[in-house]
Amino acid sequence: MGSVLVSWGTALPEKVVTNHDLASYLDTSDQWVTERTGIRERRIGGSTASLSVEASQRALERVGLAGSDIDLIVLSTTTADQMVPGTSADVSAQLGTRGGAMDINAACAGFVYALVVANGMLGPNTPRALVIGADTLSRITDWDDRSTAVLFADGAGAVVLEYREGPGNLLGWDLGVDGSARRFLYCDHGSTLKMEGREVFRKAVRAVVDSCEKVLSSAGLKASDIALCVPHQANIRIIEAANERLGIPMERTAVVLDRTGNTSSGSVPLALADAADAGRINEGDLVLMCGFGAGMTWSSAILRWGS
Ligand code: COA
Repeated sequence: MGSVLVSWGTALPEKVVTNHDLASYLDTSDQWVTERTGIRERRIGGSTASLSVEASQRALERVGLAGSDIDLIVLSTTTADQMVPGTSADVSAQLGTRGGAMDINAACAGFVYALVVANGMLGPNTPRALVIGADTLSRITDWDDRSTAVLFADGAGAVVLEYREGPGNLLGWDLGVDGSARRFLYCDHGSTLKMEGREVFRKAVRAVVDSCEKVLSSAGLKASDIALCVPHQANIRIIEAANERLGIPMERTAVVLDRTGNTSSGSVPLALADAADAGRINEGDLVLMCGFGAGMTWSSAILRWGS
């Protein structure tokens, strides 16, 4: 049993915050942020549920589906709108979905975690799932801390997965966590994100490369077989460093962080949808998605595009 990805949709808040906007009150500059991160602007606003619903509605509309056609919601977020209930419950109510709904928190690696969970749950009695990656990091960012304020933002992406007889299109995955690295990136209740950027950078490159090599090898593939790499959108230098080690050229990589900043769970589906909308993915193409985040978590998966 397996699944295929049949649709996608995204949502970004209307409010654009540029590096110049941040430099108007922080000791930073557009040049510093662009050179060190690749980020030029980001979107701020909305709730995790509202962005999730908007992205999901677009994904459903693309293929003429309604909320009532969905049997399962797996929502990856690290910024749930409240402690209880899960944000996925609000999203389910607004979309009118059937079946179960759950939140998953694996930080910025979460979307691929959610994809793997949904893929494993689909079957004849649960034929269609919405997998959502949504975060509103602006709500846990200290806007007076230049080392984090320039990075984090809000956004969401959603995909529809459908059950298929046979092995499906998710060809392999690798999920991991190293909880001993918690101190490098965390946010306690009622607080804001704390980060040791340099250490996160180093560990992220290593984790992404190891995880991608593992998933390629488990699927019997080489980096040259990958038509498009869709990495977590945290920092263009992390993407370039990992790609160089993996042997994946930037021309075969999806990048939206210049416009979105780091949207955590929203990052991979936003980049995937951007590439799909631009016609950069063709039927049968192999797509490598990978992420890393607080935990420290990491995840990668290989998806064959098309039905
Ligand atoms: N504007 C200007 N200067 C800044 C700055 C900013 N926004 N943020 C930090 N600096 C300063 C530092 O204070 C430091 O000054 P010092 O040398 O006087 O101490 C200097 O720039 C260099 O800092 P450093 O941390 O070495 O820079 P860097 O090249 O590592 O870039 C990050 C910093 C945060 C951009 C980078 O480490 C990074 O992206 N790390 C990963 C973060 C991440 O992806 N987090 C999310 C994971 S899901």
